[in-house]
Amino acid sequence: MVSTKWMAVGLTAAAAVAQVAAAPGDVGTTIAGYKFVEEVSQQARIDLDVRAVENAKSNYAFARTVYTKGSNSEAEEGGKRTLQGFSTEYASPGIARTEPLAIMSKVFWGDWDYANKHLLAALGGFNSAKYGLYGSGALAKTAAARQQIIKKVIKFSLIPQYVQRELAKTMTDYKKGLESAAEHWDEAWAFYAGSLENGSGNGYSAYILAEKRSANFGTKAGGRSRVNQRFLAAMKKGQGQVSKPGQVGALLQTVKCIRGLMVVPAIQGCLRYSYKVSDPAVSSAANLAKESAEAWAFCAAALPGLASVDRAAAGRVRFQTFLGGNKRVNWPIVRAAFGAKNLNKMGVRCSDVGALNVEYPQSQHSVCKDGKLSNPNQGTNFC
Ligand SMILES: *[C@@H]1O[C@H](CO)[C@@H](O)[C@H](O)[C@H]1NC(C)=O
Repeated sequence: MVSTKWMAVGLTAAAAVAQVAAAPGDVGTTIAGYKFVEEVSQQARIDLDVRAVENAKSNYAFARTVYTKGSNSEAEEGGKRTLQGFSTEYASPGIARTEPLAIMSKVFWGDWDYANKHLLAALGGFNSAKYGLYGSGALAKTAAARQQIIKKVIKFSLIPQYVQRELAKTMTDYKKGLESAAEHWDEAWAFYAGSLENGSGNGYSAYILAEKRSANFGTKAGGRSRVNQRFLAAMKKGQGQVSKPGQVGALLQTVKCIRGLMVVPAIQGCLRYSYKVSDPAVSSAANLAKESAEAWAFCAAALPGLASVDRAAAGRVRFQTFLGGNKRVNWPIVRAAFGAKNLNKMGVRCSDVGALNVEYPQSQHSVCKDGKLSNPNQGTNFC
């Protein structure tokens, strides 16, 4: 679209290049190895809002304004796209909510817009029996904890949920033979990676987590996380499938692969920070609020999937990691909840998660032994 503008007004080629320098997400540009066939540069800019919220630190009023009103990303229907809308869209009446992550999350949290409710509690500094005691909890009320919750719930609960929504919209539109299927597919990557991401995990969206945690769990290959490498491969494959007719079954397999991959970094984060805050020698009293918040933010992202296969185990992890007063996590309880049986039922292999003892040998968390992967809706065996 942009590339033809300059010819019409007769600019020199050099001036034209300066004027129309491609933005990340324009047709033909690449973000972290994925090349867009649709125009999604405004969608990719949502990470600039994430960065603005993060940089606001304890200026919660400003963070809340960016979160609720939007700032950097123009919506197709006019006005700003908002991070808040990614979550509240689910609470609108009459909305189709078919993606498994949305349904599992509603079952676990009791809210369709669980990410938004969590964020409003942390941004507003009030107590929520479900999401955290941000008003009076000794750990939860601290600025260090609230800032971690705000940025990590946005990146690792709210955005992943909306990425999966784009995959679901792709399927729906593809089945109807609509061209918009290809746009939804590209939007999924635009939101997942964001405009600033160069592949290394330097960006501000969900992509970064697999890069960070793969270093702790020994799940890198050739300098990059295996999760993101497989995610990228699946996105490229799906882009090809969407461009051809007759691919409903194959495309669904690709979507199931991505859903399975997306839960892995959240599990790794939940394990790593649960371990850290279990041990005063690893997480000192001075770091306890910040790192407990990190544990809760990651576990919150992993809990709906865990609850769907083992409700009791998810209840125990919730109890251990819920962010409130001054308490340390019981690590063996959290470690046991993510054993081979539950991982496999979630569609995750032991080798996908890897071993925290790469980083903390004393954690006694080695790679578990797979049984049979059995989740019909998602799993890394679909990759
Ligand atoms: C990505 O960005 C980071 C941070 O700016 C930089 O250190 C790194 O070299 C970049 N990597 C690539 C592949 O461009």
